[in-house]
Amino acid sequence: MKSSAGRLTYASLSVLCSLFTPVVLVKENDFKKCHQSGFCKRNRAYADHAVAQSTWQSPYKILSGEASSLKQGQFEATILKTVDEQGSTSGTARVTVDEEKRKTQSIDLRHDSKARKERYNEAEKWAVVGGLALDPDAKITHEDKKGVTVKYGPEGAFEAVIKFDPFAIDFKRGGDIQIKFNDRGLMNMEHWRPKIDKPEPEKKKRPKKGGRRSPRGRGEEGRGGGAQEGRSPSSPGRKHMPSISHSLNTSTYMVFLSTLAPLSLKETRGGEGNYEEPYRLYNADVFEYVLDSPMTLYGAIPFMQAQRKDSTVGVFWLNGAETWIDVAKVKQTKNPLSLGGSSKTNTHTHWISESGLMDVFVFLGPTPKDISKAYGELTGTTAMPAEFSLGYHQCRWNYVSDDDVKEVDRKMDKFNIPYDVIWLDIEYTHEKKYFTWDPDMFKDPISMGKQLDDHGRKLVTIIDPHIKNVDNYPVISEMKSKGHAVKNKDGNDFDGWCWPGSSMWIDAFSPAAIKWWTSLFKYDYFKGTMENTYVWNDMNEPSVFNGPEVTMPKDNLHYGGWEHRDVHNINGMTFHNATWEALVSRKKGEMRRPFVLTRSFFAGSQRLGAMWTGDNQASWDHLGAAVPMILAQGIAGFPFSGADVGGFFGNPEIELQTRWYQAGAFYPFFRGHAHIDARRREPYMASEPHRSIITAALRLRYSLMPSWYTAFFHANRDGSPIIRPMYWTHPGEESGFAVDDQFFVGSTGLLVKPIVEKDKFDTDVYIPDDEHYYDYFTYHKLSTHKGKSVSVTAPIETIPVLMRGGHIFPRRDIPRRSTQLMKFDDYTLVVVIGKDGSARGELYVDDGDSFEFEKGQFIHRVFEYKQLLLTSEAASKVESKTKEGDWMKKFHNVSYDKIIMVGAPSSWEGKTEVPVTSEGKTHNVKLDFYKAEGGRAAFAVLGRLGVRVGADWEVDFA
Ligand code: GLC
Repeated sequence: MKSSAGRLTYASLSVLCSLFTPVVLVKENDFKKCHQSGFCKRNRAYADHAVAQSTWQSPYKILSGEASSLKQGQFEATILKTVDEQGSTSGTARVTVDEEKRKTQSIDLRHDSKARKERYNEAEKWAVVGGLALDPDAKITHEDKKGVTVKYGPEGAFEAVIKFDPFAIDFKRGGDIQIKFNDRGLMNMEHWRPKIDKPEPEKKKRPKKGGRRSPRGRGEEGRGGGAQEGRSPSSPGRKHMPSISHSLNTSTYMVFLSTLAPLSLKETRGGEGNYEEPYRLYNADVFEYVLDSPMTLYGAIPFMQAQRKDSTVGVFWLNGAETWIDVAKVKQTKNPLSLGGSSKTNTHTHWISESGLMDVFVFLGPTPKDISKAYGELTGTTAMPAEFSLGYHQCRWNYVSDDDVKEVDRKMDKFNIPYDVIWLDIEYTHEKKYFTWDPDMFKDPISMGKQLDDHGRKLVTIIDPHIKNVDNYPVISEMKSKGHAVKNKDGNDFDGWCWPGSSMWIDAFSPAAIKWWTSLFKYDYFKGTMENTYVWNDMNEPSVFNGPEVTMPKDNLHYGGWEHRDVHNINGMTFHNATWEALVSRKKGEMRRPFVLTRSFFAGSQRLGAMWTGDNQASWDHLGAAVPMILAQGIAGFPFSGADVGGFFGNPEIELQTRWYQAGAFYPFFRGHAHIDARRREPYMASEPHRSIITAALRLRYSLMPSWYTAFFHANRDGSPIIRPMYWTHPGEESGFAVDDQFFVGSTGLLVKPIVEKDKFDTDVYIPDDEHYYDYFTYHKLSTHKGKSVSVTAPIETIPVLMRGGHIFPRRDIPRRSTQLMKFDDYTLVVVIGKDGSARGELYVDDGDSFEFEKGQFIHRVFEYKQLLLTSEAASKVESKTKEGDWMKKFHNVSYDKIIMVGAPSSWEGKTEVPVTSEGKTHNVKLDFYKAEGGRAAFAVLGRLGVRVGADWEVDFA
């Protein structure tokens, strides 16, 4: 093998991993298995070979003579290929390996028909937005012929021990090895081999035009490309791009996380209950996906976390090509006679990508919160959402006309069911031509938009990336003439099959194409849309019905001359990004927060909007799978996520539908959706008592809106998940690590366990600590024990929601039709007094719509209850100095309706009022005390507080 110059950099460890997985009923055989993917098969075999040989030595070594330069936290070295390794100030380490640059003609032009031959090196451009500042304090602490040790990270607590021959790195925290890089010697960078052109067999299969999909999907339209077909463009001997593989070894027992169900990853090298196949990341339209499988789903975030008691580490594999990951756990039993002779489990992971750089970020924690934060710094955090998007979304394929939409809107009002958004699926268009309206069914979209607007509601229309290839459709003719379509391997516009029939795809990697795309959303171009119209991007994996594995051929070409194989997993994000750009620039000076839902995603997509888990089914299994998948999304840094409530395919029985609404009320993204062949199931269609139960679930969502918004604010600030699994909140409590069917909502202390089984009217809720836990609805104090479960009854009208002691959370209890109508309502505060007699909480509020919050137009309060004193203070000094803009002026007098003190001391019996002090004045407020009774905790209710939310205040209960 040729040696080549390279760089090795030590940076902070940050790794993203959301293996988007698998649940697929889907015809699994439509999608490749590892043995059908040449590079996966070869690298698995390489690993087997290496592991089988006790004398195996990795062929990669650092040339020690050239290794010793550490400059500003970046260490460069020459190995057999290039190694680039950095230490960033955030304590994240980065290892980059490239090949010696080949002489290539520069191919940056759109129309160049030749693919580039160097490794794709632009994934960073799409995924990474920060966190790359090098650690100037990183220093070499040891150096000899065999290797170099570099200290870096917070207070120099992290170390990278770089071994030269064979090349490997041990990452340590506090002196203990946390992650071993290439310790098993599986690193393997295959080099480029020229394509040997063979005449291509004539492709005959062409789906018949305009065929309507079967209820089960689009079989009739020639969902042609199966795994078989998928092999051809990348088969060895034709064109063989480099593949890479390497091993990571967490020296910890652990739960590996990704966007999989279950949250705690199964092993992938066989054995009882394990998978035979590696986890696959190759974004695909896996409609009707089956549960419990390592196969790919719609999106990929190659970020993985590992957890052992009080220690979290993470790995982000920045690569947009098809990727497979093997996970194996190896028990290491120490000599039982030696002191401290316990066994521990190491988790080996082996990452194999088809092409691109080896670019790995290593995060050493030590807490899950540290890792979420570091990953958020690197790839960006959840955008501050438009507030309405946290409300309920009513969708189906399809609302058939503008009158239909108006009627649904009226009915929701008639039945007092709150909702914020109604959605239009593909049938609203004229013959599946995006940016047009069906002239018969949607004659007057503006009057529809206006009716919605009158109730503070919004409209979302779907816009997919495939553009119908027909005459007399300006969008396609412009896309072609301006050269904005993805090209086939010969450099001609690629034509494939999707909903509209023959279509072409916008190449959203191209800056010029993005610019053109934004022009299509201007109100005077996309007529019929208005300020309350938002967008849904679907099919952006991209889904190509007659393509290999229902997507594009890998040798298609994108902007810059990159092959589709290099960028496949990033493709969906680029389209989402283009639409995001379009919405922020619809009208000069508008400056409203966009809302764009995407189906396909990559690391960084969280900056652009929300995702959902695609085409699930109206079954109890799918209801059960949704929570682990959404939790995994949160861990992977993309917490604004949800699953189709009610299930996309099929017709849920009423109990399932009801339970799904109860669960959905706690999904960060809450949308009911149904397939075109499913029966209508708007909440008001349900018969009693289910209609009222569903309505109550929706109202609960709306009353907790201030807490949801505050949780989104935290996600925006520091990358925290919005709903949080037990290991994330309690990383020291091993018994809770694998629990993935319950969660805390933000930092509210609300612990939720949705019922996901038929005829189930009680459940066991796992309790991770020694705090008090109360039933949310009844204030009953539960008899709990740390690390054990507590039984909770859950008749059909009840959602198991507990309140953890020590928290204060905000609500708005006046029932309204939409979030917009709640904007200036007063608040309720719920103070759940903890074991030590104290509680803390936060409220973040802004106009929920513009970017004025970036200029300080927000209110962020910290509440504290301690030693019988309840206080509200500005979370930061900056805030109290901000001059009030329009929204703040309107909000100025918003106050508190009531404050509920749960677990109030019995000594308050007889108290009827308490003094409240704010803005230099003190007045008394009425207090009603309810003593403990029949298991219900004592509580007190304070009446209207008469103080401003934006002001400091205190209530003295002494
Ligand atoms: C895809 C989407 C689904 C949508 C349908 C029609 O299957 O996943 O949500 O309803 O396409 O646009």
